[in-house]
Order: sequence, then C-alpha cells, then structure tokens
Amino acid sequence: MRARARAPGRVNVIGDHTDYTGGLVLPMAIGLATTVTVERGGTTVELVSDQAAEPALVPLGAPSGAAGQPAWARYVAAVVEEVAPRAGAIGTVTTTLPLRSGLSSSAALEVAVALALGCDAPPRQVAELCRRAEQRASGVPCGIMDQLASLMGVAGALLLIDCRTLDVTPVPLPAGAAIVGVHSGEQRALAGSAYAERRAQCEDAEAEIGPLRDAGPGDVAALADPVLRARARHVVTENARVGAFAAALAQGDFAAAGRLMSESHASLRDDFAVSTPVVDALVAQLAAAPGVYGARMTGGGFGGVVVALCDAGAGVAEAFGGWDFVPAAGATVEEGGY
Ligand code: GLA
Repeated sequence: MRARARAPGRVNVIGDHTDYTGGLVLPMAIGLATTVTVERGGTTVELVSDQAAEPALVPLGAPSGAAGQPAWARYVAAVVEEVAPRAGAIGTVTTTLPLRSGLSSSAALEVAVALALGCDAPPRQVAELCRRAEQRASGVPCGIMDQLASLMGVAGALLLIDCRTLDVTPVPLPAGAAIVGVHSGEQRALAGSAYAERRAQCEDAEAEIGPLRDAGPGDVAALADPVLRARARHVVTENARVGAFAAALAQGDFAAAGRLMSESHASLRDDFAVSTPVVDALVAQLAAAPGVYGARMTGGGFGGVVVALCDAGAGVAEAFGGWDFVPAAGATVEEGGY
C-alpha cells in the first residue's frame, strides 16, 4: 500500500529548556515540513533522502543494522525499532526544513517515518515513541516538545503545552501579530553535550529542592551552588513567563508579550548559558528594529534560528531575509489511493 506522511517542523515562541522538567512551553508547528512517501511491504525500510547522498537501509527486527550507515539513518532505524511495523517500506524523504537550525527537522523526520510506517497510536503516544527514537539516535536526552508540536499543531494557534500532563491548549495568534524567524547563520554545534549537561544540572537542583515545576524564588535562593541556582532560576522564571506570555497574547498586549520574549532570551543567555555571541547580536538587532515587539533564541540554543514577535504589517521577515511563520496544523498521513 502507498502512504504519504507529512510532518511539520516547529518554532518555539517562548519556554525553552523547561520541557524536560515538566514545565510549560509555547511552540507552534510551521509551514516547513518533511514528507515521507512509501510503498509498504517487504522486510526492510529503505529510504532515500533529498538531503543525503546515502540511503537509509534498515532491516525489520534488526534496526541496530543502522550502524555504519549515514547519521540520518540512525533516526530512521530508531523509529523502526519503536514502531515495530509488520511490513517494511520503500520510498523517499523530502524536506523544506533547514537542517541543524533549531526548527526540529529531526522530530519532523521521526514523526513522518512513524506515520508512513502505519503507526496509528494516539498523537501523545506517537510523540513519546518518536522522542525515545530521537534520544537513542542522537544520544541527546531531549524533552517532548518538538515531537508533540509536530503532531498536535493547530492552524492559526500557538500550543501551550504542559509537559507534566501533556495537556495542549491552543492559543490563537491574533491578527496583527506575526512570528518571524531569522537564521543566525550559525549551525547548531556542541548542542548535544551542553544539553545533556544542562539537563543533569536541572536534575541536581531538583534533588535538592524538588520539582522545578513546583519551585518558587525562595526554593531557588536556597540552592548553595551558584551554577545550579542560575539554572534553576531560568527554569522557574521561564515557566512563569510562558503563562504570562499566553495571557498577554490573548489580551492583544503585544508589547508585554515582546518584553517577556526579551526577558526569556536574557535568562537563556545569562542563567542557562545556551546562547552564542552571534545569536545575541541578532536578537539585539531584531529587538531594535521597527515593528518588533521582542526577540529571543529558540530551541536548544548554540546557534540556529532566532524568533521574534512582530507587527504583521511591518515587513520584518523581508527586511531580515527571514521567514514569516504561520502557525500550521500537525502531521498528517494519506494512505492508499491519493
Ligand atoms: C530541543 C529539545 C526539546 C527542548 C528544547 C529546548 O529542541 O529537543 O525537547 O528541550 O531543545 O527548549
């Protein structure tokens, strides 16, 4: 049977490095996406990609057979292992997402492969299995935001996700506001090892003061180690900013929402130490441009795309050579005669 699955990337508008401690995030699915088109059958998953010279060739039941294959095949193999489909598939992968830019091209690949292979579990379960696949393939202990955003996107809305309950509440993007992405020109580097270290630091803080999701400023102040205190302070204040941002957007108070984005960036830069000088410079340049309410790094950090809340009529995307991201619906699959 033929199947075609399409999974969008995401941009996170506010709430970074909060998902893996059960915090709040506010991403949205975007129009850039990965499409996997296959003919199901056989005993291997064989995919060629428009982004890689070498194909992924994954025998069913022996996905560790991806060893020695191109890096992208590890993601395919890990999804095959998680989905454990009855039949293999032969087909193609195409994408409009820039890779290694912080727009979750790997989550989009995982979700599109899972759906193309016939995985029909509820979206939260698909997100969980794709997150496990991402962790195994990349070695990075990521949270669930990217996969959930790709699966549960809502046209016209940001997604307020409570990563403790996995509740998803759409927050409509008001007319007059635009979410603009601009590439810093820096490909994300060193992101994996730094990410694992930050996550471990959050866990160390939680061992002392309990879940960061429930912690307040007093708990943070009680942490003796200055590094752990800074990391925890970021998470606790960022969770509060996500809630405040969603409320400001609902009230059409773009100025307040923009200020919260700028505060989020400062917190990620100073307390969480996941920005770079190039990203900081672009954030400052954007924040000072006419029609921009606020700007920040987005995603794991260490390069990639910067996101800004803008006046929809101000032409910021054009001025900076960026993208005008329109909140998009989540992943879809068509099977059989399309
Ligand atoms: C990466 C991870 C997500 C999340 C962000 C930071 O995108 O995959 O789970 O932790 O970094 O917010």
